[in-house]
Amino acid sequence: MVYPIIMYGDPVLRKRAKEIEEGSLDIKALIQDMFDTMYAAHGIGLAAPQIGKSIRLFVVDGTTLKDEDDVEDMTGFRKTFINPVLIEEKGETWEFEEGCLSIPNIRENVTRPEKVKIRYRDEGWNQREEEYDGMKARIIQHEYDHLDGKMFVDYLTPLKKRMLKGKLTDISKGEVDTEYRISAPLKK
Ligand code: NI
Repeated sequence: MVYPIIMYGDPVLRKRAKEIEEGSLDIKALIQDMFDTMYAAHGIGLAAPQIGKSIRLFVVDGTTLKDEDDVEDMTGFRKTFINPVLIEEKGETWEFEEGCLSIPNIRENVTRPEKVKIRYRDEGWNQREEEYDGMKARIIQHEYDHLDGKMFVDYLTPLKKRMLKGKLTDISKGEVDTEYRISAPLKK
């Protein structure tokens, strides 16, 4: 099932999402829905709050990026992260122009550390601890932020934020062009 994507301004995107208890929901079906929704929107990552579910779960698939320039090998980077804990962020910081399915048609540079160590449950509820760097780390950091109610625009300077205010308000009203179904908090 493909869910509409929740737009910027909805309070669910600002909450700290709750841990998932093993067996408390049909996680397999939900994960499938998350991937279906992400692919329908041509995204490379999707966090559960973006479909209105305030739980600690996100999915990524960077494999569609593999032919693009400046992206390292993404083979196998199709993953589900349940109850992730970002244990460490390290390395040099680097800038990259990020976007977000909940903030359509806006891309801005965000600075983040290049490496992460993350502990999580996979789709089979196996505990894993892995390290990622570069674009993979970037995608994980962006999606992980969603679980803590954070969005990439939060990293921008006050000036930049003021400049985007009108566009963000339009997005909250659903006045934005997307090729995917959206749910906007201020839509009349
Ligand atoms: Ni996002």
